[in-house]
Amino acid sequence: MHTVKAIYPGSFDPLTNGHLDLIARGAQFADELVVAVLDNEEKHPLFSVGERVEMLREATREVGNVTIATFEGLLVDFAKQQGARMVLRGIRAISDYEYELQMALMNRRLSPDVETVFMIPAEKYSYVSSRLIKQVFNLGGSVDGLVPPNVLERLKARAGRAAK
Ligand code: PNS
Repeated sequence: MHTVKAIYPGSFDPLTNGHLDLIARGAQFADELVVAVLDNEEKHPLFSVGERVEMLREATREVGNVTIATFEGLLVDFAKQQGARMVLRGIRAISDYEYELQMALMNRRLSPDVETVFMIPAEKYSYVSSRLIKQVFNLGGSVDGLVPPNVLERLKARAGRAAK
């Protein structure tokens, strides 16, 4: 039988409800969806790769066909290693398109067998990014409802204060 295994790669620093929305959508179409966390510790992310994996595992526990993994190096190499030919990415707005197009075409050049598929997250999360979540939280603003509860708890714990 023909089964579809897809990779949903990203930094997930931290996971947002926009990411979760995309995972839920992707999991409906792929038989197996591997959420792949980029191991980019040299870029000094807010959360370690281990913490990001834990947050994803906690938040996707209920979705049966989703697994969480980490990767280093080229995404297409990881996809090959996993036996996956589909890469899933979200596009929120036109501004995402240029960067996503570059990555998709570079990945296609590196590995023509791997196809990038784009999905659009729920419009209520179309302005949500990990970068803005960190900025707003650090400046004392509320990110409640934009990240899953376990991520909010970790943000609070990291900052050593009660989040609004
Ligand atoms: O969530 P992000 O930070 O937008 O995700 C970017 C990611 C992880 C998908 C991208 O940086 C990536 O695939 N990195 C691995 C290196 C790679 O394969 N580069 C060549 C293709 S552009």
